[in-house]
Amino acid sequence: MPDRKKIVVVGSVNLDIVVTVDRLPVAGETVSGGTLSQFPGGKGANQALAAKRLGADVSLVACVGDDANADAALALLRKGGVDLSACRRDEAAATGVALIAVSSDGENQIVVVPGANRVSTPEDMNLPEADALICQLEVPVATLQSATESFAGFISINLAPAIDVPADLIDSADLVVVNETEAAFYGDSLKGFAGLLAITYGAEGAVLMKGGEVVARSRPPAIEVVDTTGAGDTFTAALTLAIIEGHDFQAALDFACAAGAAAATRAGAQPSLPSRAEVDSL
Ligand code: RIB
Repeated sequence: MPDRKKIVVVGSVNLDIVVTVDRLPVAGETVSGGTLSQFPGGKGANQALAAKRLGADVSLVACVGDDANADAALALLRKGGVDLSACRRDEAAATGVALIAVSSDGENQIVVVPGANRVSTPEDMNLPEADALICQLEVPVATLQSATESFAGFISINLAPAIDVPADLIDSADLVVVNETEAAFYGDSLKGFAGLLAITYGAEGAVLMKGGEVVARSRPPAIEVVDTTGAGDTFTAALTLAIIEGHDFQAALDFACAAGAAAATRAGAQPSLPSRAEVDSL
């Protein structure tokens, strides 16, 4: 087992309100749902807990409201041992909420009400020392720029959800992770990227490139998909951790694909995040 790595995650915390549906509605359509559940979520929180369950020591830098939803949203992070000392409660904002529909084939539609994630400021970015920093795009870009500028280790940015970001933020990353929809959105702005670029293709697997050259391809193990929510977050955390642990590109991508697949076998973002032993066994 390699030395335990330290990861700091800057990102969002949401409470996910999840409805199951036979199929996702198209624009303007109404469909009837099945069960209604709530789970802790948010891309930042999911990535933090995923990295922790996979064997890293993790701190989460985030902002939540001073409300009951915050307690529910932070419950599994707290139970899982993620360091929340840099997680700020803002009295004037509500904890972020995500409204999620999950279809019977495990696909989802997500609408996020960011709330307190929007008031995470550059001044909040007093990052603890760590081997790697992981960010996504559910907090303000200026906050992420402040985080990446002050961080000396390996920087991993999951460009999700797809929004316009300045080139210097992308260029500050050692690793960028996107799914195929996001890859199409960013198009040419990722073409000259000199670092590692991972593109995920759902059940088809993922490709890892360095300076535009493919260095690894991987397919996930065959699994029964229940809910893909959080699978991309798990992939990002697993790939970052495997790379900083020193695994070669192929082994790191295989590990990340297996971790993402494992996360799709259970319902809910955070309840589905796999342990290291489960991923290794896949
Ligand atoms: O990536 C999945 C996450 O996206 C959900 O947990 C939801 O909160 C949204 O942020």
